[in-house]
Amino acid sequence: MKNFGLVYLTEDASHDAVIELINEEAFGPGRHTRAAARIREQGPHDRSLSYICADNGETIASVRMTPVMAGGVKGHLLGPLAVRPSHKNRGIGRELVRIAIESARRKGSEGVILIGDPPYYMPLGFEKVAYKALDFPGPVDPNRVLVVPLVDGVHERLKGVIAWRDCKAVAAEPSVLEAAQTDKVYASA
Ligand SMILES: CC(C)(COP(=O)(O)OP(=O)(O)OC[C@H]1O[C@@H](n2cnc3c(N)ncnc32)[C@H](O)[C@@H]1OP(=O)(O)O)[C@@H](O)C(=O)NCCC(=O)NCCS
Repeated sequence: MKNFGLVYLTEDASHDAVIELINEEAFGPGRHTRAAARIREQGPHDRSLSYICADNGETIASVRMTPVMAGGVKGHLLGPLAVRPSHKNRGIGRELVRIAIESARRKGSEGVILIGDPPYYMPLGFEKVAYKALDFPGPVDPNRVLVVPLVDGVHERLKGVIAWRDCKAVAAEPSVLEAAQTDKVYASA
């Protein structure tokens, strides 16, 4: 299937309503009770590292990034990641993850952490966090706690409480998105 009409954009407030609908469709009403959601309730996500994908002007996917302190690591929690059912299996989820990680790396993040399915995320650079090393504000399956280390020594410092971290939003470098869109044009040619 062609991806020519797809564009990846930095999230802004105008996307809030449709992102809520996309997450409702993907995760249902129980999503607010998850441990990751409890961290996200502690403070705002970082819009400069959060992205949407639009298909001919319609927002069809979203990834958000929330600044966290995870033990001794100043990192970011990735999620929710959701793609509308009409647009699944076109590489959009993978591309949003790639863009979010690259943006976080450029912003000086020490690691991108998430709770998710290892078979999906490990080929994208995620590694398992040591069993039960992080204390979440709610139950999690320790086998699903993953990290992309962005500096040396991350695994050694990923021990203790994970919680929202205050950090000032800084605009992501535009080159991350420019690269993404260029890739799409090449992928569709
Ligand atoms: C998971 C999700 C984001 C994937 O987005 P997507 O754009 O369809 O995925 P991509 O096109 O990048 O990748 C598709 C591949 O991932 C695989 N995949 C999708 N979800 C997977 C999962 N949970 N575990 C393992 N593999 C998965 C597909 O089978 C497909 O494999 P293939 O390339 O071998 O055919 C999307 O299905 C979604 O929104 N699901 C509901 C919400 C959700 O589960 N979010 C993730 C929370 S952990």
